[in-house]
Amino acid sequence: MTNALWARAHTNIALIKYWGKKDAELMLPANDSLSLTLADFYTETRVTFGGAATDTLRLDDHTLTGPALAKAVKVVDQVRSLAHIQSAALIESYNHVPTAAGLASSASGMAALAGAAAKAAGLTLDHRQLSRLARRGSGSATRSIDGGFVRWFAGHDDDSSFAMPVAAAPELLANIRVVAVVFSDQPKSIGSTDGMARTAATSSYFAAWTERADEDLTLLLPALRQGDFRAVGTIAEGNALAMHAATLAARPPFTYFLPSTLALIQQVGQLREHTGIPVFATVDAGPNVKLLTLSPYVTQLQTWLQTQFPTAQVTITQAGPEMSYHQTRKEENTHA
Ligand code: PMV
Repeated sequence: MTNALWARAHTNIALIKYWGKKDAELMLPANDSLSLTLADFYTETRVTFGGAATDTLRLDDHTLTGPALAKAVKVVDQVRSLAHIQSAALIESYNHVPTAAGLASSASGMAALAGAAAKAAGLTLDHRQLSRLARRGSGSATRSIDGGFVRWFAGHDDDSSFAMPVAAAPELLANIRVVAVVFSDQPKSIGSTDGMARTAATSSYFAAWTERADEDLTLLLPALRQGDFRAVGTIAEGNALAMHAATLAARPPFTYFLPSTLALIQQVGQLREHTGIPVFATVDAGPNVKLLTLSPYVTQLQTWLQTQFPTAQVTITQAGPEMSYHQTRKEENTHA
């Protein structure tokens, strides 16, 4: 039996991407990034210290070993050292990030683990400290402790690399929608860790990419505050394309795009131009596209997607909340 609480953390989509580390051990990114936490996709995790003979990770009732366990242990090790405990951890985790949404679950997974492990160890940590813990498991997880728009400050050491919510116009936060368009649910050929390492080490555009990310962030902050969605979308789309341009200039070069990825990005641009619908594309380390739009345009966009990309799977979500703790998990949801 355990009295541990379930931590629920939501995944996020980056508008300014994290792509490249300056310190792999501490997980310090090369540039600041900024994301939107998503409502419908989350992970629930509970940790019991002394609940197993060795550190054990159970995800959706299956025991995981190898790299997945190693990432989780990095977070748990930090908690053990802060709380001065030695016992092994039983980590029980349930993902509500459907493969069909094409969103990574590592952000929500490592953020929920940071919250659950700290709670189980009796630590009282603020969001800034929790974001630093989550960072040890996965960079994007740093931004999944808070809700709404969140900025990860790259920093220069463990203390200074953390995330915080950023101010945004309330009507923007209420009306922004993310339409995930999934072409492939196959695992990507190059994982984000290897992809960013290769880009940072060999791409002649890497320095330009980090400079561009800083400029984009400087422009994005006032656009969010003013609720200027067209500016937000333009900056986010350009930033994603700049990140993917840097991968094309790596040696050997690579891209996460499929032909349909590029086709959708181009057609979204044309749709915007011809109809005035505010819709913009962003793409992470995979072939699937996330469209950013506003609530009044969602239905029209869905109809358009059905005609243009009939085989793609489409999921819609909105801005999500900060991490929370619960006595029980949300049983009604299906597992990914
Ligand atoms: O932290 P990771 O390994 O999940 O890497 C995230 C990389 C991107 O999703 C492409 C960008 C981002 O900022 O989330």
